[in-house]
Amino acid sequence: MRNEPLVLGIETSCDETAVGIVRGRTLLANVISSSVEQHARFGGVVPEIASRAHLEAMQNVIGQALLEAKVSLSDIDALGVTAGPGLIGALLVGTSAASGLALALDKPLYGVNHLSSHIAVDALDQDRVLEPAIGLLVSGGHSSILKVSDLASDVEVLGATIDDAAGEAFDKIARLLDLDFPGGPAIDRLAHSGNASAIDFPRGLTHANDLTEHLYDFSFSGLKTATSRYLKATPDAVRADVAASFQEAVVDVLLTKAISAARAFGYESMIIAGGVAANSRLRAEAARRCEQAGIRLRTPPVSLCTDNGAMVAALTSLMVGAGQSPTGIGFAADSSSGLERLLWR
Ligand code: KG4
Ligand code: ZN
Repeated sequence: MRNEPLVLGIETSCDETAVGIVRGRTLLANVISSSVEQHARFGGVVPEIASRAHLEAMQNVIGQALLEAKVSLSDIDALGVTAGPGLIGALLVGTSAASGLALALDKPLYGVNHLSSHIAVDALDQDRVLEPAIGLLVSGGHSSILKVSDLASDVEVLGATIDDAAGEAFDKIARLLDLDFPGGPAIDRLAHSGNASAIDFPRGLTHANDLTEHLYDFSFSGLKTATSRYLKATPDAVRADVAASFQEAVVDVLLTKAISAARAFGYESMIIAGGVAANSRLRAEAARRCEQAGIRLRTPPVSLCTDNGAMVAALTSLMVGAGQSPTGIGFAADSSSGLERLLWR
């Protein structure tokens, strides 16, 4: 609808320079330039390289997004940008670009939370009724169970990883298996030809004595150690079986805890988002278990699971729609912010 706000969102928290444009809850453009190949030989994202790549890509990515959306800069009603958490140098490139645009266009700027925007991307499905949901956010930096009462204003962390994030675990195990970085997609592919019940890897923080303190928390370091030990002790290990069994252990814990949170709070809807939500086994098993539990499962398309600008535009658009006042320019990005801050003030 024409009278809905046209919002441009910028995301630069890690290695994707990404710009999305939405009108209300309709996605118009989603352009991503990734520096992932420049980091591959280091086995992880190098912050300095990521920041430089953002600087180099920013103008082009904005230009392409405008072309794709068939709008011009002067049509934009509001701007959103990831203000944290993320790599500080990378965040600063995005927030500076967004501040410059907001100043030049004289339009409101919203500094928003990267984690809640991963979940908010789900609002871009027009058929979706926005209802309270349990959010399972699984990415390279985070693994959290969220109580999402209202995407734009009320998101609470029920639990999180106490060591590695799920994506980080995928990346580390991939390295042990001599697979390319990022490891998640590589393990996903290899696991297709493996037997997921070949090796009984540990499910962290699922024993009764852990649950009192860590009911909705995750731990993947024990699984990483167990996988590493198994590989050392089993020279003729079938790599596909290791990949599939490791993946199964991660998927099992993530879904067991997320579904038990949905039951505990009486929520009938679950959103799975973040880079690891692209995992084919997680998506299939979530569909099966949620159906069994009578939970409506929401999984954004794979292209919107990993970091992108559409999710920032989506969250910003919800905030504009809810009448929240903008951040304005000149705010400080925060590399380690949690969800206590959905919108920067
Ligand atoms: O959300 P994201 O793009 O960036 C962060 O905010 O961290 O997530 C990146 C993470 C990486 O660890 C990557 O290995 C993982 O998501 N990932 C996957 C898959 N695709 C990406 N993990 C498992 N299976 C996949 N298919
Ligand atoms: Zn992310």
